[in-house]
Amino acid sequence: MDFYEVVRKRLSVRRYRPDPIPDEVLNRILEAGRLAPSAKNLQPWHFIVVKDERLRKELAVACRNQHFIAEAPVVVCGCADRNRCYAKMGGIIHSYPVDLGIAMEHIILAATAEGLGTCWIGAFEEPEVKRILAIPDHLTVVALTPIGYPAVQPQPRSRKPLDEIVSFDYYRKR
Ligand SMILES: Cc1cc2nc3c(=O)[nH]c(=O)nc-3n(C[C@H](O)[C@H](O)[C@H](O)COP(=O)(O)O)c2cc1C
Repeated sequence: MDFYEVVRKRLSVRRYRPDPIPDEVLNRILEAGRLAPSAKNLQPWHFIVVKDERLRKELAVACRNQHFIAEAPVVVCGCADRNRCYAKMGGIIHSYPVDLGIAMEHIILAATAEGLGTCWIGAFEEPEVKRILAIPDHLTVVALTPIGYPAVQPQPRSRKPLDEIVSFDYYRKR
């Protein structure tokens, strides 16, 4: 699949078939996450690949009862080591949410290229997710995504037009 087709095809999928994901497919997807760039190449990430059905169901509850998450055969939980990231991005900002955001999006786009569905999950109770997956204190959960074969074909959602979100040379508000 051409890159721009992958970008267009990636839509949030909220219904999944239970069919398992072959290991070689899952490994290619995780490899795409491993190759993501990060500030100072610190790679402050750890990805927990959750296949166990009981854990997936518990996670769905911890994600504000978004039960569709547990329908997918795999849920990836992206964690960041706050102490191993670049702490002064732009002089002030920790890099770990950006680092994890990029790596998770690599995973999500790779899954799309494999014909799989995903959905960024940002609505979750962090202490609950950490308890369920036995995540140590020094890691922060940044995002989760289910990965599975879509049971529905979602419709694309609207986006702001380019001329509203881009300006050239100087900041200009439309
Ligand atoms: C940071 C972030 C958090 C999100 N959290 C959730 C979530 O908890 N549950 C959900 O169903 N969708 C979630 N989404 C998906 C967005 O609702 C979705 O990307 C947006 O509506 C655009 O639709 P599309 O992904 O189909 O293009 C999240 C997306 C992002 C980027």
